[in-house]
Amino acid sequence: MKVLVTGAGGQVGRMLRATCPAAVDLMACTHAELDIGDAAAVRETLKRERPAAIINAAAYTAVDKAESEPERARRINTAAPGYLAAGALECGARLIHLSTDFVFDGQASSPYRPEAPTRPLSVYGTTKRDGERAVLEALTDRAVIVRTAWVYAAEGSNFMRTMVRLMGERGAVRVVADQVGTPTAARPLAEALWQIVARPEIRGIHHWTDAGVASWYDFAVAIAEEGGALGLLPPTVTVTPIATEEYPTPARRPPYSVLDKRSLAALGFTQVHWRQRLRETLKALSHG
Ligand SMILES: NC(=O)c1ccc[n+]([C@@H]2O[C@H](COP(=O)([O-])OP(=O)(O)OC[C@H]3O[C@@H](n4cnc5c(N)ncnc54)[C@H](OP(=O)(O)O)[C@@H]3O)[C@@H](O)[C@H]2O)c1
Repeated sequence: MKVLVTGAGGQVGRMLRATCPAAVDLMACTHAELDIGDAAAVRETLKRERPAAIINAAAYTAVDKAESEPERARRINTAAPGYLAAGALECGARLIHLSTDFVFDGQASSPYRPEAPTRPLSVYGTTKRDGERAVLEALTDRAVIVRTAWVYAAEGSNFMRTMVRLMGERGAVRVVADQVGTPTAARPLAEALWQIVARPEIRGIHHWTDAGVASWYDFAVAIAEEGGALGLLPPTVTVTPIATEEYPTPARRPPYSVLDKRSLAALGFTQVHWRQRLRETLKALSHG
């Protein structure tokens, strides 16, 4: 089965390449190889390659920068998924499109179900929510939206790697303790996406994160402890909890963004606790 992966140079894209099942004929396109914001290029590529499925791992993910360049974010996160959906419709492909917990406002106190009303707080969240809509409107029957959150990997730009660097350089970090979600390792996310590719009956909106709940502060404490145990970090790192107001950012973030994953659990998908995944990812970093 031929599968086209967009954004193949990103954290999730790289993991999709690393975990690709042997039976898949993979066409992995980095940003340089396929700009999903170029409608003609998307149409031509899909017409030529005729994949059975597309996984869209490309996105404009600079959450704070998006506040000052909304048009660029909209082109990549809203218009481009629409181009992919239109192309998928034409060539008969399924489209598995990644989205985010930032479509929610974070005011809930229990995990967000896929059908919960969206109310993004930021340009990034709004453009991603509108991208979901563009996909579902163009391709109702063969579209899957997978919302995820707090993604990290041993490579790429992410919270875990930033913390390891800062903890190593400074020995102390201050981290927001009043935003709660679920750290999610890119590898099991990529494996779940491949399982979705193999199950054509899956459609609509689903949530995938690792299991459990943490604040960014909890995540940082775990990085310090696990990194210390692996010898990646000194055992003396100090992690201080702070409030969101003490770390102002251009984009507002949802204070609570735990996602309800039961729709995939009902289909046989299982998640492992985030702390176990963190240990595995730090091990990969230390071997890397
Ligand atoms: N990271 C998270 O915490 C997180 C949380 C929730 C949801 N998600 C979603 O998960 C998906 C994957 O995110 P990620 O963490 O892998 O992000 P990432 O590491 O930033 O990767 C995104 C990739 O998309 C590429 N890209 C940007 N514009 C493009 C365009 N016009 N055409 C083709 N490729 C383009 C980027 O290439 P360049 O770098 O060369 O521009 C990059 O390789 C996204 O849909 C994101 O919204 C991520």
